[in-house]
Amino acid sequence: MRIVLDMDTGVDDAVAMVLAMNSPEFEVEAITTVAGNAPVVQCTRNSLLITELLRPGDPPPVAHGACEPLVQPLIIAPEVHGHDGLGGLLDSLPTPHHAADTRPAVELIAAIPHDGPDDVSLVASGPLTNLAIALRTDPTAMAAYRRIVIMGGAFDVPGNTGPVAEFNFYVDPDAASEVLNSGLDITIIPLDVTMSTALTRDALESLVRSGGRTDTQALAKPGRNLAAILYRALDYYMSFQEDESGLNGGFMHDALAVSAALFPSIITTRPASVEVVTSGPARGRSLVRPAVNGRTVNIAVGLDESMFHEILEERVLQPVWG
Ligand code: RIB
Ligand code: CA
Repeated sequence: MRIVLDMDTGVDDAVAMVLAMNSPEFEVEAITTVAGNAPVVQCTRNSLLITELLRPGDPPPVAHGACEPLVQPLIIAPEVHGHDGLGGLLDSLPTPHHAADTRPAVELIAAIPHDGPDDVSLVASGPLTNLAIALRTDPTAMAAYRRIVIMGGAFDVPGNTGPVAEFNFYVDPDAASEVLNSGLDITIIPLDVTMSTALTRDALESLVRSGGRTDTQALAKPGRNLAAILYRALDYYMSFQEDESGLNGGFMHDALAVSAALFPSIITTRPASVEVVTSGPARGRSLVRPAVNGRTVNIAVGLDESMFHEILEERVLQPVWG
């Protein structure tokens, strides 16, 4: 399956990128970046670095996307992902060898379905700004995506950005509203399932200690050591969530969206029409509404947790730190 990843490459996006590129069932056609967890310049830099460390010979193209939401001013999340999106490693991260694609993200998102067989899917794990713009400029291309899997929303659980909103939908509620009401074949992976299980710090630490891919020197100055870079980034990400909620670990929101694109049976879904509140105190809130002219999206309501942890173990933890 050909796949495009649209990401605001922060820590859990990076884990999802590793998962996708370590999955032989996927051909990652492109990665497009959007501002969210960090400014889009950082998201692009992070994506270039991680893809070239994963596939030094021929990394997939990384295209630079929207630097701000459609209407709202940009909000980033340095407290969660670090000021650079990878746990604040910027000052010790190497400069990527590859440059971003010359085409902007929206152009690449629209071009890919036209340039090959139509089994291409798209996973969006950041604010939906790029997708909304691509829908406005080339709706035919967007309709050619076989599946669009979106990490976002919170329905029967509290939000993670204020009391009711999930971060991606909060940052660009207008884009989320346009995309979710576009009539495309969309599956939403909300906090309701992504926060039902976490990658535990114990699981990570024990593997890092036993795997031998990192040592104290590499952790101090990761250089181009992917295992050290990702460990330091996850350490920062988990520390925030431990401080905030006492969780022993971190939620792998975006890795679940990629897993659902790979193995749809990992989730159970229900069809519904979704309204996204675009302004006011409930900005970013996602609400189930009666279907309007039959237009619905599929909302993930259940998760096979053990399958998800097996996928993380096999396609992220072992290849990176094992
Ligand atoms: O609310 C969680 C989502 O917002 C994840 O995609 C995280 O990376 C941030 O983008
Ligand atoms: Ca994300």
